[in-house]
Amino acid sequence: MDIGLNKQVLPDANGFFGEFGGKIEHPALKAALQEIEDGFRLMINDPEFLKEFKLLRETYIGRPSPVYHARNLSKNGANIYFKREDLNHTGAHKINHCIGEVLLAKRLGKKKVIAETGAGQHGVALATAAALLGMPCDIHMGEVDIAKEHPNVSRMKVLGANVIPVSFGAKTLKEAVDSAFEDYLKDPQGTMYAIGSVVGPAPFPEMVAFFQSIVGHEARSQFQAAYGSLPNEVVACVGGGSNAMGIFNAFLDDKSVKLTGVEPAGDGLDKVGRHAATLTLGKKGEMHGFRCYYLQNEDGSPSAVYSIASGLDYPGVGPQHCHLHDTGRVNYTTASDKECLDAFLALSRQEGIIPALESSHAAAYALREAAKHGKDYHILVNLSGRGDKDIDFVMEKLGL
Ligand SMILES: Cc1ncc(COP(=O)(O)O)c(C=O)c1O
Repeated sequence: MDIGLNKQVLPDANGFFGEFGGKIEHPALKAALQEIEDGFRLMINDPEFLKEFKLLRETYIGRPSPVYHARNLSKNGANIYFKREDLNHTGAHKINHCIGEVLLAKRLGKKKVIAETGAGQHGVALATAAALLGMPCDIHMGEVDIAKEHPNVSRMKVLGANVIPVSFGAKTLKEAVDSAFEDYLKDPQGTMYAIGSVVGPAPFPEMVAFFQSIVGHEARSQFQAAYGSLPNEVVACVGGGSNAMGIFNAFLDDKSVKLTGVEPAGDGLDKVGRHAATLTLGKKGEMHGFRCYYLQNEDGSPSAVYSIASGLDYPGVGPQHCHLHDTGRVNYTTASDKECLDAFLALSRQEGIIPALESSHAAAYALREAAKHGKDYHILVNLSGRGDKDIDFVMEKLGL
C-alpha cells in the first residue's frame, strides 16, 4: 500500500476521531461539504484516479523523497535521519495534498479553488497544482505573513494565483482562515475550499491526511530497507498537523516506535499570545467548524498566537492529533523560537540543508533528544520543507 489511513485515525460516520472533529453545521455549507466528501470517497476507490495521482506524484512532485542519514549531526549522540520533503517540487509536503484537492475540485466541476496560507507553502503548492490542472486560484494571506514570506507571495503571483491580503486582527494564519471561510460562503457550490492542513470540518482532516499518508508509507519502507529495522522515534512539527499525520500514520501500529509532535513555544509558554502550543496548553472546544483543542481566551474565543514560523501559528490543531494526544499514542512537546533558529543554523552549516523554520522545530527537538541517547537510538525527522522562503527574515533577525 502506498497511500491509505490506519484505522486509529479514521473518522466515524459523523466525522469524529474520538470526541474530536465533526461535520459542519452551517446550513449554507452542509451540502457543499457533503458533496466534497462523497466525491472524495468515490475518487479514492477509482483505479483511474489512483493511477493518475501516482503518476503525478512520481513524475511531477518527484517522489519518493529520500530518507537521509545526517551523519554530521549524529556525531554526539543518537543517529538522526531526515525524510526529505524539502526536496519535493515547490519545496514542502503541501504539494502532496494540493494535487489531490485540485484533482477532486476538477472532478466535481468546480470553477475555482480557494485557500488560506501562513508560510505561503500551501499557497504556492495550491497555485502550482491549479496552474498544472488549469483551475483559477485565490489565496488568502495575512499582511504580516505577506511581509515575512514575500518570496512565496511572488511565486504565487507568477504562478497565476490571486493573493488576497488579510488586514484584520493579528493579520496571520487564523485570520487568513477566517477570510477564506467568508469567501467560501459566497459560492460554496462553484468553488472548493482546499484547506491546507488536517483541520476544519469533515472531510478535510481525513482527506488531507489520506493524501499526506504517502510520506509515512514511503519513509517506513525506505528505513526498513536501508537499516533492517524501524527507527526508535519519529518526529514532526505540528501546526495544523498535516506533515505530522502524514508520517505518523504508517507507524501507529508499531508499538516500539515513539511518535513525537513538536509545537512552537515561541518566546515563552508562560506568555499568552507568545506561543502556539495548542496540545500543550489548549482546552477543548469548537473553532472553524470542528471540535479540537485550541488556545482560548477566558470567553472561549481563540486566543492570539505567535511563532517565528508562520506555518505553525494556528490556535487549533487537527482532530486526529487531539485524539492521539488523549489516547497517549503520540507525545506532544515544544521547541522555542531560539531552539528553532539554532537548529536552522545547525542544519544549514553542518549538513548543507537550509530547513523551513517550521521543520526546524522538529529538528530542534531531535537534536535535544539525540544528546540524551547513544548510537543505538535512531530518530527519523520529517523535514517538511526547505527554508529558502525564510532566509531574508533569518538574515535580518540574526544580523548576518
Ligand atoms: C514547511 C512547513 N512545515 C510545516 C507546516 C505546518 O503545517 P502542518 O502542521 O499542517 O504540517 C507548514 C505550514 O505552512 C510548512 O510550510
